[in-house]
Amino acid sequence: MKGLICYYSGSGNTKLACEAIARRTNEIEFDLFDIVRDGEPNLDGFDIVGFATFADFFGPPMRMKTFLESLPPQNDTPAFLFNTYGAFSGKTLGLLDRWTGKARFRAVASQSLHTPENYPPMIVRGRGFPDAPNGKELAAFDRFIASLDALAKDHRAGRPLRRRRPRQGLFRVLPALPRTQSRRSMGAKSVDAELCIECGVCRTVCPYGAIDLAPKPVFDQAKCYGCWACYNHCPTKAIYTKKLRGVGHYPKPNEAPVAKLGG
Ligand SMILES: Cc1cc2nc3c(=O)[nH]c(=O)nc-3n(C[C@H](O)[C@H](O)[C@H](O)COP(=O)(O)O)c2cc1C
Ligand code: SF4
Ligand code: SF4
Repeated sequence: MKGLICYYSGSGNTKLACEAIARRTNEIEFDLFDIVRDGEPNLDGFDIVGFATFADFFGPPMRMKTFLESLPPQNDTPAFLFNTYGAFSGKTLGLLDRWTGKARFRAVASQSLHTPENYPPMIVRGRGFPDAPNGKELAAFDRFIASLDALAKDHRAGRPLRRRRPRQGLFRVLPALPRTQSRRSMGAKSVDAELCIECGVCRTVCPYGAIDLAPKPVFDQAKCYGCWACYNHCPTKAIYTKKLRGVGHYPKPNEAPVAKLGG
């Protein structure tokens, strides 16, 4: 069976988990597709497509929504849904289910995985869960991978892959917030002119094309979705907001997920 995993990962936790899924499934040969960097995907020839991202104010990020809306309508293509989260996923899987359904995919499996926070305001509050995932969460992740292999065996045997609604847990009761919530919460961004070395990393990592360089960054607040990628990735920590300056950065997966999910 051939599969494609379309992922959006701001700091690499989701990407790391997707690489683990691709490496550990024995019955599915997965390719990975970065929805921000890799352009338009060609879904022809894939038996299953995965959609993987992170919880962003209790739902999937806007970038995943626009990506799904850009895909040609499917004819019931089997899909799996996956997200990482730092504290509570809320409605992330439920909304992914709804959005993939609109694009006429059929969700046949889904899973969330607890990973460290990359959201600086939580990290500075000491709520960064730097050791996640724990043993129980890892075991659930392993069972999910085994379930993908079981689906591949069904597929090979000619058995239909049944639609399965995601199980979202208790925190699905958290409100469905607008996708602009993160932008509002982050607020305006500023740059410390003395620290900025005009390297352009912030513009490169911005998934929403909200940064111009002149030659220091200029932010278009109307395009920004408050993902904190520019803040997290700036090599000199020059970007700051009204609430945070110089603290709480998470540019890439820390030792815990690397040790637990890495090769
Ligand atoms: C803007 C933003 C909003 C977030 N909102 C949530 C949230 O609602 N619930 C949660 O559990 N984690 C939330 N997080 C944490 C991320 O979901 C988590 O750290 C995830 O593993 C990051 O994945 P990545 O490294 O692939 O970008 C948020 C992170 C960011 C940057
Ligand atoms: S990433 Fe930081 S140092 Fe580089 S241009 Fe942007 S603000 Fe300046
Ligand atoms: S400007 Fe910064 S916070 Fe806003 S979308 Fe771009 S990278 Fe994310």
